[in-house]
Amino acid sequence: MAAATLCLAALALAAPLKVSAQYSLNKTYSGDGFFNDWDFYGHWDNLTNGDIDYVNRTDSQDLAYVNSAGNAVIKVDNSSTVLYPNKRRSVRISSTEQWGIGSLWVFDMVHVPHGCSVWPSAWVTSSDWPTGGEIDIYEAVNLQTTNQMALHTTSGCTVSNSSSSDWTGIMTYGNCDTTANFNSGCTFRDTRETSNGAAFAQNGGGVFAGELTKDGVSIWFFPRPSVPSDLSSSSESPDPTSWGKPVAYYPASSCDVSNHFGTQQIVLTITACGDWAGQVTNSTGCPLTTDSCCTSANYDQAYFEIPSIRVYSNPNLTAPVVSTSTNKTSSSSSSSSSSNKTSGGRGSATERPVLAALLSVAALAIGASFSFSA
Ligand SMILES: *[C@@H]1O[C@H](CO)[C@@H](O)[C@H](O)[C@H]1NC(C)=O
Ligand SMILES: *[C@@H]1O[C@H](CO)[C@@H](O)[C@H](O)[C@H]1NC(C)=O
Ligand SMILES: *[C@@H]1O[C@H](CO)[C@@H](O)[C@H](O)[C@H]1NC(C)=O
Ligand SMILES: *[C@@H]1O[C@H](CO)[C@@H](O)[C@H](O)[C@H]1NC(C)=O
Ligand SMILES: *[C@@H]1O[C@H](CO)[C@@H](O)[C@H](O)[C@H]1NC(C)=O
Ligand SMILES: *[C@@H]1O[C@H](CO)[C@@H](O)[C@H](O)[C@H]1NC(C)=O
Ligand SMILES: *[C@@H]1O[C@H](CO)[C@@H](O)[C@H](O)[C@H]1NC(C)=O
Ligand SMILES: *[C@@H]1O[C@H](CO)[C@@H](O)[C@H](O)[C@H]1NC(C)=O
Ligand SMILES: *[C@@H]1O[C@H](CO)[C@@H](O)[C@H](O)[C@H]1NC(C)=O
Repeated sequence: MAAATLCLAALALAAPLKVSAQYSLNKTYSGDGFFNDWDFYGHWDNLTNGDIDYVNRTDSQDLAYVNSAGNAVIKVDNSSTVLYPNKRRSVRISSTEQWGIGSLWVFDMVHVPHGCSVWPSAWVTSSDWPTGGEIDIYEAVNLQTTNQMALHTTSGCTVSNSSSSDWTGIMTYGNCDTTANFNSGCTFRDTRETSNGAAFAQNGGGVFAGELTKDGVSIWFFPRPSVPSDLSSSSESPDPTSWGKPVAYYPASSCDVSNHFGTQQIVLTITACGDWAGQVTNSTGCPLTTDSCCTSANYDQAYFEIPSIRVYSNPNLTAPVVSTSTNKTSSSSSSSSSSNKTSGGRGSATERPVLAALLSVAALAIGASFSFSA
């Protein structure tokens, strides 16, 4: 009887441990198979107007490959002189798979692209933009010293500094609506220089994690020395509730995720100059004129080096996603979108557009605090 009681007690203790394994591994991109399940854009950057020609898969061997360390390298061509207005070769890839609410995307990186004119991003987005939303998990331009995170959505998704005790970053814009603030999105800045640039690599890199659940959107960054053990490459079941506050947090109380997010695909891109990097050169450490932006820059550090990207799912944190079908009448989920957008198709979702063309104007209008410089 005593033995039986002990046995039950042991079961009672063991059961919650299993339950707390909230997320389960859905997909891993790593090693020799890293590039298997992606679409290569294969066209010049007509999305953000960078001076870049994105290669197709056939032409990608020297720019998208797995190195001797087993890490994926995604880079800008630094082997040739390319004079403006000619376009330099680079890479933009989108995952062929998509994931809905109740997902965690984990980017383990040892190097991120940096240098004058360079504009890298690692993010997730709906192919029906902006109806299905966009989550920028890692993004920076030029010599900006810290990571900038953002959401881009239809109207009605916001974040307020009144919740600032829930995050560690600095919230720089509160309105996620693509039609507000020249589509700057609702942005957060990390305060740690280890989150970007040369300091990131010198510190061994780190792990960026973005979570989309029924409760909101959270983004974490862990510098290499402080990566939680359940985010190691062998982890099958990370538990974000054990990680502490995220750098950026968008609670569902002011951004109803079911109304603003569809299924998301992963996108990795490095462009040069264009709508953001090309417009804020002076304020981000690279006083170049637009015409010389991509001519005099140096691209030796313009590469991602990625041990793995992993996607985890938690069915308990899911919710219906906004319909991104053009046939709204047959949709069961509600939508705040006002019109049926023509889908840009896979890979063309960002259209971070006009943002930048207008950034300098916005900076003038809003004042010195409007700046992407760190
Ligand atoms: C989901 O929640 C239920 C009820 O709390 C629990 O039994 C189950 O183990 C959870 N599933 C996961 C994957 O966390
Ligand atoms: C991964 O997630 C996708 C999207 O939710 C789902 O269709 C697929 O079955 C999942 N695969 C595994 C192995 O869990
Ligand atoms: C970019 O070019 C491709 C290929 O010509 C085209 O299908 C797509 O619509 C263009 N996108 C934009 C935003 O112009
Ligand atoms: C890939 O790009 C190269 C270089 O622009 C071009 O010659 C080739 O035709 C393209 N291949 C495909 C399959 O589009
Ligand atoms: C939010 O608060 C931080 C810290 O006080 C401040 O730097 C930032 O400008 C505020 N953001 C907005 C949009 O007011
Ligand atoms: C940026 O700096 C260059 C060189 O100092 C200067 O010529 C240019 O006018 C500046 N541009 C802006 C927008 O301030
Ligand atoms: C390109 O950059 C790499 C470092 O990322 C460097 O080893 C290589 O020498 C550079 N190539 C040229 C032609 O400068
Ligand atoms: C839209 O949905 C309705 C109801 O399910 C269906 O009858 C109709 O064929 C759909 N139209 C299109 C264009 O898919
Ligand atoms: C929605 O799509 C239909 C068919 O593609 C088009 O005729 C209609 O003008 C669109 N409506 C809006 C509001 O864009």
